[in-house]
Amino acid sequence: MIPQDFIQQLLDRTDIVALVERYVPLKKAGANYQARCPFHNEKSPSFSVSPTKQFYHCFGCGAHGTAITFLMEHAGYSFIDAVKELAGQVGMTLPDDGKRVAPEEEIRRDKLYEVMDVAARHYRLALKKHEPAIAYLKQRGLTGESAARFALGVANDEWQPLASVFADYQDALLVEAGLVISNEGKRYDRFRDRVMFPIRNERGQVIAFGGRIMQKGEPKYLNSPETPLFHKGRELYGLFEHRRAIQHEDRVVVVEGYMDVVMLDQHGVDNAVATLGTAITSDQAARLLRLANEVIFAFDGDNAGRKAAWRALENSLPQARDGKLLSFLFLPDGEDPDSFVRAQGADAFRKLCGQAMPLSDFLFNELTDQTDLASQEGKVRLATLAQPHIAKLTQAPLLTRALRQRLDTLTGLDMPRPPGERTRTSNRPPFGRPLRVQGQGRGAVQSSSWRILLQALLHDPARAGLLTDIPEAAGTEAAAVQAVISLAREHPEMSARDIVEHFRDRPEHGLLVLAAAELMRWDDEYDIEADFQGALRTLLNQANRIAIKEFSGRKPSELSDQEKAHLLASIKPRKPV
Ligand code: UTP
Ligand code: MN
Repeated sequence: MIPQDFIQQLLDRTDIVALVERYVPLKKAGANYQARCPFHNEKSPSFSVSPTKQFYHCFGCGAHGTAITFLMEHAGYSFIDAVKELAGQVGMTLPDDGKRVAPEEEIRRDKLYEVMDVAARHYRLALKKHEPAIAYLKQRGLTGESAARFALGVANDEWQPLASVFADYQDALLVEAGLVISNEGKRYDRFRDRVMFPIRNERGQVIAFGGRIMQKGEPKYLNSPETPLFHKGRELYGLFEHRRAIQHEDRVVVVEGYMDVVMLDQHGVDNAVATLGTAITSDQAARLLRLANEVIFAFDGDNAGRKAAWRALENSLPQARDGKLLSFLFLPDGEDPDSFVRAQGADAFRKLCGQAMPLSDFLFNELTDQTDLASQEGKVRLATLAQPHIAKLTQAPLLTRALRQRLDTLTGLDMPRPPGERTRTSNRPPFGRPLRVQGQGRGAVQSSSWRILLQALLHDPARAGLLTDIPEAAGTEAAAVQAVISLAREHPEMSARDIVEHFRDRPEHGLLVLAAAELMRWDDEYDIEADFQGALRTLLNQANRIAIKEFSGRKPSELSDQEKAHLLASIKPRKPV
């Protein structure tokens, strides 16, 4: 963990306007800066960066965050890398803690990168004079430009092709990098007599290789093992080359093979990436959803393809978000994207993408295939099969609701909802449950009061320290307000931005982001103080009414001293602050 105060100082020293400007041209508009949103396609600018609040927010797509989130979501950095990048820019060093990479380790990683780079260059140059490899690629329809764009190479048909490029072939680094295998004292290259596909990380550094055999033989592809630089469940082939196109199109196609990516690219489809011989992981799905609103998983039409698609579905459910589209595309039997685009061209492939099956359809199609909806038992079975999958949609409340409704329609059952989720018939407010006065029809009032409190606290966190009376209630908004109050009291130095950042990865984060976004809409005339006091009064009065109601049925002798005090206090009119 990087300590919170480090993040705070870092964000304090970072100028978000200057940072964003490096990626997106900004125009001054009033107190803020504006641009066409880099997170979604749009004609008129609804993306706004606030130099005073050090937030960015898009009123079109809801993208929102700090300098750290911007680097993560726009430039694809991990949290740690974003922090490191910003720290480097403002001359701060990461504090010593568990997560931090020790200097020796850092130096070792740099050496590994260097080794990979030297190997990649060697393979690439070797291809220029390797007739059989050139013939193989030509016969597969690959152009020289494509080979160059993806830096393809070849490992010669010898035991130690890399021995000529490394001064010390015995160096342990070569084994650690996964390039050399050490077996009973003998050393030889992992990759021999194969066409080499370098796998690059998001900064373009080579971190692994995939090697394709040119003749018949096993395995068809040999990949680098997991190394300190390479975790195959994280990386995506083609992401470095295609990141911009993916963001621009706001859509990414995930295919199964290296060749698929390269051949699609050659035909002008430059928003594809490939997994590295594994099922798509949750981590990969999350990365892609940060870059584009639409993720299409393309699979072969055979049984293996359907199985792989199902695993992709299971792993991406926890990453699904309302407003994002995950869909599944099945190629005609016997085809893969490589053969398809060569035979039919890019437009046909794009058309196929347009017909991809939304996640919800794929889910229900697969499950209804396994059940007999004509019988009661079959309907119940469908419900039991579907529930655990729907439950994984923790970040998509609206999609969850839609799927539950669809399940109800299919089964004729009215499945119980988890607490807090709105059903078709209830008229509860959309944000959590109203305090303890359910059924009185006042939920909406309370809900917006909580939201005003939240905004006022973010606008001026010092309010938290001044509050003497804090209304109590259940519900997500009330919980968020209470959490912000305790945090701000404990850390009076925290700004709104720090507070929002603090709640990243916690359930309150979404509400805080919304509240912070609202702040950016306020004009200077807005009297938040009046609204704040009003909202506080409303909530306190409500809490009092509940207290009186709770106590009114009981004799004074039945009340504890604490309860009596509470009752007395609630009968008196209170001043909120
Ligand atoms: P496929 O077997 O579908 O091959 O493997 P492909 O991509 O169509 O390859 P070509 O067109 O015959 O050259 C898809 C992906 O699965 C991984 C690789 O990442 C490959 O791109 N794979 C496949 C392996 O890692 N090892 C293998 O032996 C085979
Ligand atoms: Mn293929």
